[in-house]
Amino acid sequence: MKRIILLNAIVLFGLNFPLSAQNKLVVHADQGKETISKHIYGHFSEHLGRCIYGGYWVGEDSPIPNTRGIRNDVVKALKDIQIPTLRWPGGCFADEYHWMDGIGPRDQRPKMVNTHWGGVTEDNSFGTHEFLDLCEQLGCEPYISGNLGSGSVEEMSKWVEYITFDGESPMANLRRQNGRDKAWKVRFWGVGNESWGCGGNMTADFYADQYRRYATYCRNYGDNWLYRIACGANTEDYNWTETVMKNVGGRMQGISLHYYTVPRGWDNMGSATQFDEAEYFSTIERTLLMEELLTKHAAIMDKYDPQKGIGLMVDEWGIWTAAEPGTNPAFLYQQNSLRDAILAAINLNLFNAHCDRVKMANIAQTVNVLQAVILTDKEKMLLTPTYWVYYLYKVHQDATLLPLSFNSNKYELNGREMDAVSASASRDASGKIHITLVNIDPNKVQNIETELRGTTVKKVSGKVLTSAKINDYNTFEKPDAVTVTDFKGAKLSGGKLNISLPAKSVVMLEIE
Ligand code: AHR
Repeated sequence: MKRIILLNAIVLFGLNFPLSAQNKLVVHADQGKETISKHIYGHFSEHLGRCIYGGYWVGEDSPIPNTRGIRNDVVKALKDIQIPTLRWPGGCFADEYHWMDGIGPRDQRPKMVNTHWGGVTEDNSFGTHEFLDLCEQLGCEPYISGNLGSGSVEEMSKWVEYITFDGESPMANLRRQNGRDKAWKVRFWGVGNESWGCGGNMTADFYADQYRRYATYCRNYGDNWLYRIACGANTEDYNWTETVMKNVGGRMQGISLHYYTVPRGWDNMGSATQFDEAEYFSTIERTLLMEELLTKHAAIMDKYDPQKGIGLMVDEWGIWTAAEPGTNPAFLYQQNSLRDAILAAINLNLFNAHCDRVKMANIAQTVNVLQAVILTDKEKMLLTPTYWVYYLYKVHQDATLLPLSFNSNKYELNGREMDAVSASASRDASGKIHITLVNIDPNKVQNIETELRGTTVKKVSGKVLTSAKINDYNTFEKPDAVTVTDFKGAKLSGGKLNISLPAKSVVMLEIE
């Protein structure tokens, strides 16, 4: 991979850009054919800890300002980052969720045990109607994960009918009886989650057969065309992708991929806020595995689907640390530091770069769980550093990816090295160019000489996210400790753009 990048650099930069040149960026503004799907900026929310309950749902009688039981502050914050998609109800929870328990009068809904996440009682007060109301309030597309692990084919089939059929039918009539006359539009439909693990511990062959059976009965009603998403691989399980691609093929529109960055590995996890530079470095190394995963899973998909009709949906990703001390470990509540924002920004740049195949990505999990963009404490709410990355990066949604030629300085520690800068660029519908840049190096400013080939730059402005320490984070007492400010480090000179990226920062530039 490195060799190819190096050779590209020689070809593209020629004599004007000798190999020894560092931090030279060319944005090919006169090229670009792939659209960065807005769904790359999607989210995932599960019935887990305080994500749904407390995070979104407070109930209609709550003193916390709400609309039909859903918190107004959280809805507003997510609308401000143009949340495009929300995946629900799990996760592992999805494969033991029986949707009929979550419809009808709330006080009559049966209760269940949430066995995956702490054995707490789930009272089903947040169900299909509440979720789809949430999506309507957010203005985002729902992505429903159906139960293949412990639910029946009939159950999944009826759920699709209940939600999307507009005519006379038992399920459509039941929906009307429960207060919703018009069918909803739901495109994204997951057929099982982590079926290789919590979703049934299946083999790839067995799952592929099950998928074919379940998906057959997930019907397209009227003009509601389902985008069926098969359960894909865990991290480097290339055999899973190969088997599902071979045996399911065009019966699916998407296949998922899950990869979590765990700073110290699953045995010891690592803290969300207490880590040294060595751990920061190795955490970024771990997150960069995403590049290899996207490349290799996409290569397998190319074999069976050279037209790239099937999307690779990274529908769970993010940093997974130990839970905050003093909280229920099964609730996966973790703080979120500048490190996590940098990690998110790197991954989003990677998804953009692979947008010919990656059609969706859903960070886990929006509110109060894992790499959350929002944390709440009763009536209080804060926006995490990761939130601000989504705020900066929303400019890429549905924009045209612009190819880059980039020669980055290295960030070195204890004899190991990685590129110090990660970058991505796009052109939006109005013609504006946006470049997102991450200075991964926590110690050094990175100066980048940038050429925008094929266009003339008249004006540049920007925003930056940084802080004094890499493990700085926001608290309910100091909610704005890590936030975005105006960026003054980009200067135009002789048609070139000289950018000075502060150490450990994420920058978004707007170029007109
Ligand atoms: O996001 C937490 C859990 O991680 C999800 O429920 C599951 O799909 C994955 O293992």
